[in-house]
Amino acid sequence: MVTSRVPSPIPNYQHIIIMNRLFFWWFLLLFTAAIAAEVSPITRIAFGSCANQSAPQPIWDAINKFDPQVFIWLGDNIYGDIRRPLKVIGKERNVGPWKNSPRFVPSTEEEMKLRYAKAKANPGYARLQRNAKVIGTWDDHDYGLNDAGKEFDRKVINQRLMLDFLDEPLDSPRRKQAGVYASYTYGPPNRKVKVIVLDTRYHRDPLRSDGSILGDTQWRWLEKELRASRSEITIIGSSVQVISNLSATTGPLFYMESWGRFPKERKRLFKLIADTKRNGVIFISGDVHFGEITRYDCSVGYPLYDVTSSGLVQSVEKVVPRPLRSIVRLLFWYTPSTMRVINDNCKFRSCTYGQQNFGAISIDWNANSVTIRLEIRDVNGLTVLGTNVSLTELQAQGANSLKDPTTKGKSQRYCTLEVELPGTTRYRLAVLVYFTIAVLAMALVGLIVGALLTITACVYKCKVD
Ligand SMILES: *[C@@H]1O[C@H](CO)[C@@H](O)[C@H](O)[C@H]1NC(C)=O
Ligand SMILES: *[C@@H]1O[C@H](CO)[C@@H](O)[C@H](O)[C@H]1NC(C)=O
Ligand SMILES: *[C@@H]1O[C@H](CO)[C@@H](O)[C@H](O)[C@H]1NC(C)=O
Repeated sequence: MVTSRVPSPIPNYQHIIIMNRLFFWWFLLLFTAAIAAEVSPITRIAFGSCANQSAPQPIWDAINKFDPQVFIWLGDNIYGDIRRPLKVIGKERNVGPWKNSPRFVPSTEEEMKLRYAKAKANPGYARLQRNAKVIGTWDDHDYGLNDAGKEFDRKVINQRLMLDFLDEPLDSPRRKQAGVYASYTYGPPNRKVKVIVLDTRYHRDPLRSDGSILGDTQWRWLEKELRASRSEITIIGSSVQVISNLSATTGPLFYMESWGRFPKERKRLFKLIADTKRNGVIFISGDVHFGEITRYDCSVGYPLYDVTSSGLVQSVEKVVPRPLRSIVRLLFWYTPSTMRVINDNCKFRSCTYGQQNFGAISIDWNANSVTIRLEIRDVNGLTVLGTNVSLTELQAQGANSLKDPTTKGKSQRYCTLEVELPGTTRYRLAVLVYFTIAVLAMALVGLIVGALLTITACVYKCKVD
């Protein structure tokens, strides 16, 4: 018999082909989903602060043009509190050492909601929300009250409203903790960017106490975050400035909020970064209504940069009449600063920028040595401040090599604290202002005396005549 009935292998074979194809598509699907959702490296991050929801916000067009993958709010995301009109005299005085009533008062929950709704409905911001991951923290005015800290009694309600604004999921642990601090990690292995946003309000002790900014729980959390999984770049967002301590050179005229005003807490932050051996840390901050880039080389074994973008809407030059704006720039240039990065990329000589701006971080992962471009951009998207940093510069050099006082060169400039400046330099703004006031006062007195003398002389002459 030649015709034995051997079962044909063909159907099985086809079955295998079909299975293979299924697996192929299944893998392809998983692979692309993974790439699209998680694994593409972050190359563009934007951030900003101080956005008055009641004013026009043209800056969003420039931000959308930059096309960030992540946008980070650094506080004053809305102006939630009510600013009362300035009253120097009268029954309710809200300015000067003789003041007896507050200049700022908190809004009701309903009013806060309305203000957030207004901010969220801005078409430029809505577009950004569709195209980028929007994350962030708060500062005083969206926390609910100018310069407020842990004592503020509406913080629990306002935390909920802020997290609603950021579309935080209802079951998020962030809704159960005290404060809005959070961390995010983006990108594939070896190209990871971690973003930590701090809460500098919820647990903050009063100004001038040199107490705590973060509070115990947030400190423990931050230490865990800095010790946890490696990331090539770690961006720490703080609503108030970390490196610049401008108060040291603007006092006793006026003071700003900053980590510098809490020296013990600031030292603790630098020590934590050094102790956890976290490399590649870059700070971003807001609050001050102008933009600047600062660096401090003598804290953690590598330069710590702080890119301050403030004034998505509210900026210092906006509140002064146009002809006086160059005086504002002149004063910025005149006020000494030891940490500010001064280079050829600045639009103005002061290397600060007092008009509407946003922060832009661009990462080139493909360069020979990964480069990070730190910029402040204006309302047209043009660079007004900028510096390029190579990731290799942000690695601790060990043995405090940067601290060595015999090290000569560029880095030395960024090691002197503002308070270490000689008095004649440190207080030159105050001296200029007091001197101007004295001259004006003397001129006024001279005028009055002159007028009186003329009148007397005239009266005498008239009598004689
Ligand atoms: C916000 O903008 C509105 C409209 O321009 C203005 O009336 C208000 O004073 C601004 N708020 C602050 C805090 O400057
Ligand atoms: C910052 O300046 C303030 C005001 O002059 C001063 O009290 C504080 O010690 C300074 N902080 C640092 C870290 O230099
Ligand atoms: C910084 O890097 C960018 C590219 O990322 C380059 O176009 C620019 O010229 C660099 N600027 C400086 C001052 O090196």
